[in-house]
Amino acid sequence: AIERTFSIIKPDATRRNLTGKINTIFEENGLRIIAQKRIWMSEQQAKTFYGVHAERPFFKDLVSFMTSGPVVVQVLEGENAVAKNRELMGATNPANAAEGTIRKLFAESIEANSAHGSDSLENAATEIAYFFAGLELLA
Ligand code: CMP
Repeated sequence: AIERTFSIIKPDATRRNLTGKINTIFEENGLRIIAQKRIWMSEQQAKTFYGVHAERPFFKDLVSFMTSGPVVVQVLEGENAVAKNRELMGATNPANAAEGTIRKLFAESIEANSAHGSDSLENAATEIAYFFAGLELLA
């Protein structure tokens, strides 16, 4: 089915000017960028966004990293968009990511791993609504 998912191009990738290369991977693989903006997340936004990880040992560093520079938040639409985006990103840890995936190509570490993508359709809807108003999604 045609789905929508939420994606973040993380600070390590914006810093290295990789937004276009990552977007090309999405577009060449059938994902359409129907909303996109460059923002600098506040500490509060990052903490709320990653709230499910609040008790994890890496939470503080994760929030600090995600607020260390601008990110590009985006909504991707396409056939099986949630799974497709995760396939294109590769494993969270770049050491485990398959050849040709975004994280294999670009990630610096498990933390500075260049991209975030929703892990389910339900979380995609929540994450999209956190950063975008309905009127900003231009399919
Ligand atoms: P992301 O998909 O954005 O969701 C949570 C992020 O936490 C994850 O990608 C990683 O970048 C980051 N992270 C840092 N350390 C770890 C870890 N040990 N396990 C999982 N995620 C981690």
